[in-house]
Amino acid sequence: MLGCRQNMRVLISCIVFLSSVHYLSAFSCEFNVRLKQTLKNEGFHRNLTYGIILNGEDDQCWLFKDCILGLEQVLPRGVFANPDELSALRRINKINAVPKQQVNVELPAEQSPPTVTYVIEKIQNCKVYMWLPVHARYHAALYGGGMTRNKINPPKLYLRCPDQRLEMCNRSAKPVNFLCNGSSKEKCSWKEIPYSVMSESIVWKIPVGNLDHYTKISVGTALVIAIGSLYLIKAIHEHKLITSFNPFNNPLS
Ligand SMILES: *[C@@H]1O[C@H](CO)[C@@H](O)[C@H](O)[C@H]1NC(C)=O
Ligand SMILES: *[C@@H]1O[C@H](CO)[C@@H](O)[C@H](O)[C@H]1NC(C)=O
Ligand SMILES: *[C@@H]1O[C@H](CO)[C@@H](O)[C@H](O)[C@H]1NC(C)=O
Repeated sequence: MLGCRQNMRVLISCIVFLSSVHYLSAFSCEFNVRLKQTLKNEGFHRNLTYGIILNGEDDQCWLFKDCILGLEQVLPRGVFANPDELSALRRINKINAVPKQQVNVELPAEQSPPTVTYVIEKIQNCKVYMWLPVHARYHAALYGGGMTRNKINPPKLYLRCPDQRLEMCNRSAKPVNFLCNGSSKEKCSWKEIPYSVMSESIVWKIPVGNLDHYTKISVGTALVIAIGSLYLIKAIHEHKLITSFNPFNNPLS
């Protein structure tokens, strides 16, 4: 009698469990994430911003509650994020961003590899705004000068939640381990999430020096110096001639 009841209970909880698994796997992986990436400001120091909208099915974002979003942004060789600036911004809780590897901020674009930066932010509601300060590297001068095109691709988007809720979603996508955030050395397990890009691709045109101008300028400078020196030598010489032949200028007479 008792055993039968217990079996009933087990059966019922099993049915409840199975249906909730079915419910979750059918429901929870409709991520429906949209990302808009823009490059703000002008000049050599700019602001790469991200607007992210997270809508589960039926415009609900319960799936993302208390989760943490991690962007993996690759920057082309002509552009970099400064690690010192990022750690200063982390200390004052402005943004939580950290370079994946060492970044040499001194290298010219031609000698620098592309670099990777993580930007991490907790999801408060269905919208997340993130940003990253980026800088142009010095580009070696070329004949003809002009601009170099630095294409900034959309980031990879990762999610990490305080519980196991992402386990059900796309089992073929293996979790990836990288830093939990920029403030600790600890690593966390993240899951890459598909999204749609709502913005046009970003191309940052960075001016390079013109070697033609450089030769013109140096030849011009050399000419000016040469003519100026000749003129001075001539003037000194004439002055000498005048003073030595002027009888009124002779202190002995
Ligand atoms: C970059 O843009 C974001 C969003 O508009 C803003 O909150 C942030 O202060 C900007 N950062 C800088 C350094 O201008
Ligand atoms: C599941 O993950 C695989 C491997 O990462 C990926 O190629 C595929 O597009 C993902 N499918 C969905 C529906 O997200
Ligand atoms: C960074 O991650 C660690 C480890 O998960 C956590 O203890 C810490 O609170 C996090 N810091 C911030 C600023 O999110």
